[in-house]
Amino acid sequence: MTADRSESSRSNRTTRRAFMRNAGTAAAAWTVGTGLAARPAQGRVLGANDRINFAMIGCGGEGNALLSMVKILKDQGVNVEIVAVCDIYRPRLEKTAERYKAKAYSSHKELLADSSIDVVGIATPDHIHGYQIIDAIRAGKDIYCEKPVTHWRQFELTKRLFREVSKSDRVFQLGSQYMSDSAWSQARRMIQEGQIGQPVHAEVSFFRVGDWGERGMPIDDPDAQPGPDLDWQAFLGDSPKREFDVSRFFRWRMYWDYAGGPATDLYPHCLSQVIHMLGVKMPSLVVGTGGKLRYEEREVPDTCNILAEYPEKMSVSMVGTQANDYPGARPRPPACSPIIRGWEATLTFENEEIVLTPVQGTKKEGKRVKIERPFDHVRHMKNLLDCCRTREKPEYPVDLAYYTQTPIQMGILSLREGKVAKFDPTAEKIVL
Ligand SMILES: NC(=O)c1ccc[n+]([C@@H]2O[C@H](COP(=O)([O-])OP(=O)(O)OC[C@H]3O[C@@H](n4cnc5c(N)ncnc54)[C@H](O)[C@@H]3O)[C@@H](O)[C@H]2O)c1
Repeated sequence: MTADRSESSRSNRTTRRAFMRNAGTAAAAWTVGTGLAARPAQGRVLGANDRINFAMIGCGGEGNALLSMVKILKDQGVNVEIVAVCDIYRPRLEKTAERYKAKAYSSHKELLADSSIDVVGIATPDHIHGYQIIDAIRAGKDIYCEKPVTHWRQFELTKRLFREVSKSDRVFQLGSQYMSDSAWSQARRMIQEGQIGQPVHAEVSFFRVGDWGERGMPIDDPDAQPGPDLDWQAFLGDSPKREFDVSRFFRWRMYWDYAGGPATDLYPHCLSQVIHMLGVKMPSLVVGTGGKLRYEEREVPDTCNILAEYPEKMSVSMVGTQANDYPGARPRPPACSPIIRGWEATLTFENEEIVLTPVQGTKKEGKRVKIERPFDHVRHMKNLLDCCRTREKPEYPVDLAYYTQTPIQMGILSLREGKVAKFDPTAEKIVL
């Protein structure tokens, strides 16, 4: 099936009336859950020579970064086309649609109803992802969704989407590009072979200075108002109903309703590797600490430390602040490159090598193992597109997303409530 380019150009510009109509539809749909049929639509079976039709939901900073990766892949010869884009803020929608000569949708549900689309990227604010993932699965689309998979208060939604995606035949990739690095699978094999003995402790940390990810977000138009050009209800989603606030709309990372600070923004980039390497699922207990230790003009913390205990007798620590950047970027990305400690040896990751350092007094020998395929932003998107053809599991699948997101959610709940968060594996619930 090929996209009709003349139709695409005709529908490039949503009319004001269409935008308002779509905006109303989207707002109404949020109040009744996803609003799409629970029985998944059949996705197209892609042949080796079929073009993959790609669409993006969310045309802000990251949505455009992902589109430029798809474009790079297309220029490198991958048979993929950007056919449609969606945003609830009209100026960004029109600009992106124009750039890629793509169809423009102001409602993600209308975009998902377009049967010419095979794959959707989701790069909306955190609290919107989960609903759009479920809607996309039900519409029969393959998915590349940005991290974090959900918002910190949405554990039940995360569980629900994990089940829906798992039982579907759709391909799902979470957008943390650092998982494209082969270091983590190589280290996982080393751990499984017993090279560090019993794994016991893992550590990730993220230190940097500045609140550019929060207060530093651009306000495109200080006079923006909900209405024909901006669908405020669709932005709010399941978050508390509030009057329009231009800062909340453009700088959503500053607010608890839509974000959670560095823990939810950055730890999905580094905890996922630890979960993958250790092969653990849910923690038994999590504690979160931190707060606003430097930057006051925001709701979310700038400092967050999360300690997680696993029933397999392993501890994982995630520590970080935006108030100090020592030791700077670790020797290789991500800046939060992990340390894995076993009874007999420790694994660290330096430039192009995995370094095994024996524990004092053991018979293990130190060694350095070359990383076969270092991290690459574009490759993570390529991996998704390859899997759309082969139907294999991509590098950051939904189970890893669920097992990574839950301890982060527990850490934030613990920090906010001043309580220890426990996980009840029988009821599959977080207990505070
Ligand atoms: N992987 C990475 O390295 C990386 C980097 C940056 C951002 N991200 C993630 O990407 C996501 C987007 O971040 P961003 O910096 O691009 O934010 P942004 O604010 O620049 O863009 C979000 C866009 O989504 C639109 N939007 C909001 N609600 C919508 C809805 N219901 N339907 C359709 N569009 C909607 C907004 O109008 C906005 O244009 C976040 O979840 C973030 O964590 C990942």
